[in-house]
Amino acid sequence: MTKEIKVGIIGFGTVGAGVAENLINNGEVIEKRTGLKIIVSKIADLDITTDRGVTVAADVLTTDAYKAMEEVDIVAELVGGTTIAKDFTLAALKLGKPVVTANKALLAEYGEELFSVAEENGVNIYYEASVAGGIPIIKGLREGLVSNRIERVYGIMNGTCNYILTRMENEGLDFEPILKDAQELGYAEAEPSLDVDGFDTAHKTAILASLAYGEWFGMDPIYVEGIRDVSVMDIEFAKELGYKIKLLAIIKEANGEVEVRVHPTLIPSNTMLGNISDVFNGVMVTGDTVDDTLFYGRGAGREATASAVVADIVDVALNLQYGSHRRVPAFKLNPQYNKLKNIDDIETRYYLRLQVADKVGVVAQLSKALGENNISISSIVQKETKDEESGNVSLKIITHKAIEKELKAAVSKIESLADVCDKVKIFRIEDI
Ligand code: HSE
Repeated sequence: MTKEIKVGIIGFGTVGAGVAENLINNGEVIEKRTGLKIIVSKIADLDITTDRGVTVAADVLTTDAYKAMEEVDIVAELVGGTTIAKDFTLAALKLGKPVVTANKALLAEYGEELFSVAEENGVNIYYEASVAGGIPIIKGLREGLVSNRIERVYGIMNGTCNYILTRMENEGLDFEPILKDAQELGYAEAEPSLDVDGFDTAHKTAILASLAYGEWFGMDPIYVEGIRDVSVMDIEFAKELGYKIKLLAIIKEANGEVEVRVHPTLIPSNTMLGNISDVFNGVMVTGDTVDDTLFYGRGAGREATASAVVADIVDVALNLQYGSHRRVPAFKLNPQYNKLKNIDDIETRYYLRLQVADKVGVVAQLSKALGENNISISSIVQKETKDEESGNVSLKIITHKAIEKELKAAVSKIESLADVCDKVKIFRIEDI
């Protein structure tokens, strides 16, 4: 007889309802593939009366999450946030229940503690849906690429930012009006800072970096910049030079040092990553054995996220069925690289945009400031069009590779020049 595995869904919001729906609708497909019958036996939420678009028996629904967790084989924590979700996760692990979660913020903030409690209790935490929604990047990195030393990971992992940047590029409108429209259309949250200030991407980056390098990075050492300062003028200029501007997660290792950063980045338009548009996510992983791989798909949404959560539930169910707690390995804290590069020490190319007075000798002063800090100009463009009110012109400079602290010293000197107006806009370039 087919073995039944009982799942408890804690949190009956968008993702919880999607998971219940997927397990109900595709249970037969899963059973044919795995020989396992996975039953949604409990769904806990404070609100069990709102219609979630999925029909379950009345005795499945409960407001008592702790009791529900006792009665099931697998706990799917789909509450979100980092307070009550942490309590539920710890409680489930201490009950010896494997936990499946989509909660990137929880893992990025408390992963080290949660994985160690899981280890102490002989169970595992599964978190495929926490990074890039429906894209199987965790399984890809942890299992598919297990034989590789990971050289670099690039991720476009926030659909809201990618949607806004794509519309800015296509419609020639600036960030604020596009954000407002995206909010009205329901593509961006009313409180958008988690997405547009880069922290959602940073949570996902912390998880991927830890998986790639076996060291728990957490959020603190990650350099994060969001997309609020990207203007349509920058996007258009980047386009003329053959680049797109994307909110990019960069994780890379060289000579035992790891860089982990998230910021708007110019990437070549003629690459696959450069063409990931709208709400879609893409993660490129380069391994020393496999070379480049690219994972692409929907990074959010009820169905895409449910796809990843249910994949984890099936992995756990197979573990339970075959008595193999480590068939899918736990996150292993096994530091290989103890040096995380400070943002000031990175070496990359830069895009600089300045407003300057259109006078004799201005470019000579800029070149001097850059040259004195070992920064070589790769290209410099000034169009004849002047700002109607001030008469100033916009100057764009692309540098050769430079060290960030030297770039900052040069920019600080440039900003002190009398003929340079405003702050210098700086974006980093990644020649993928
Ligand atoms: N808000 C995220 C996005 C999805 O826009 O991609 C959840 O991480």
